[in-house]
Amino acid sequence: MANTALITGASSGIGRGIALALARRGYRLLLVGRDKPRLKAVAAEIPPELMNGIYSVDFFVPSDLSRLVDSVLTEHGVPSLLVNNAATMPAGDFVERSITEIEEAFCVNLLVPAVLTQRFCSTTTPPEGVIFVLSTAAQFPQPYNSLYSASKSGLRVLAESLQIEFGGKPRVCLAYPPVTATPMTARFESGRFPFHKADPLKVAEWIVVSYEAGQDEISWFDWEVIPKLFYRTAPRLMRSFMKSRRSALQQLFRPSKPDHPWKKR
Ligand SMILES: NC(=O)c1ccc[n+]([C@@H]2O[C@H](COP(=O)([O-])OP(=O)(O)OC[C@H]3O[C@@H](n4cnc5c(N)ncnc54)[C@H](OP(=O)(O)O)[C@@H]3O)[C@@H](O)[C@H]2O)c1
Repeated sequence: MANTALITGASSGIGRGIALALARRGYRLLLVGRDKPRLKAVAAEIPPELMNGIYSVDFFVPSDLSRLVDSVLTEHGVPSLLVNNAATMPAGDFVERSITEIEEAFCVNLLVPAVLTQRFCSTTTPPEGVIFVLSTAAQFPQPYNSLYSASKSGLRVLAESLQIEFGGKPRVCLAYPPVTATPMTARFESGRFPFHKADPLKVAEWIVVSYEAGQDEISWFDWEVIPKLFYRTAPRLMRSFMKSRRSALQQLFRPSKPDHPWKKR
């Protein structure tokens, strides 16, 4: 199916931005998210002739994932572009996280994109491209954000493996957005979280521009380059540095506000 994109996590933040950026380039869209009213609001921003469908699914419910794949294959066929973007970030001390948060992080952030990619890429007409929306938390360990960091690291390794395994057919593209102003980061007060938060629409536009330009690894040149390079060149030294800064890291990642009400389960 030419120029059709399925975007997970399209109801919000970077996913919404990717949907709008792809619509500007004439892609027909399948929007996936949990919150139906907000999915409908995003769909209303897109020319009706480019809206192929919205799918309200909770990826933490296994039957929702198979229902989604079966419906898409029956109603529209395989999308030409799959954007694995949906994620959850249960930040804070590991020992204070519930079992549900642990399971949900690995399910939504790692298991679901693996299954979606396998289901679509194992057909006789696989997608032309798969974008994995990762994070710099996949490039170095983030204590006190360990579930997010571990699940995104697993997803990075999966995506890098598939880049080699698929040999470019489909193309596998890894995107590492900077810290961005979305509901995911709204819990971090700007005073205690002293980093600039990027505009989600600009981040999404850059991901799409870079994908269309043929880039298979999309990253930003910002302050996160420093810990990324530090960890790449001297992992043991960086771990011992972080160990000496444990309480600062704990403060950084401790959510100052509860999740947005729509995120509550
Ligand atoms: N924001 C940042 O600073 C940042 C930085 C680097 C990477 N990223 C990555 O960028 C991607 C988008 O994040 P964002 O910042 O745009 O976050 P966001 O605004 O909170 O969006 C997350 C999306 O994931 C969906 N989602 C979460 N749990 C789900 C579930 N159980 N079932 C189905 N959908 C679910 C949400 O759907 P509902 O809202 O409908 O529940 C929402 O559409 C993520 O992969 C994230 O890791 C973000």
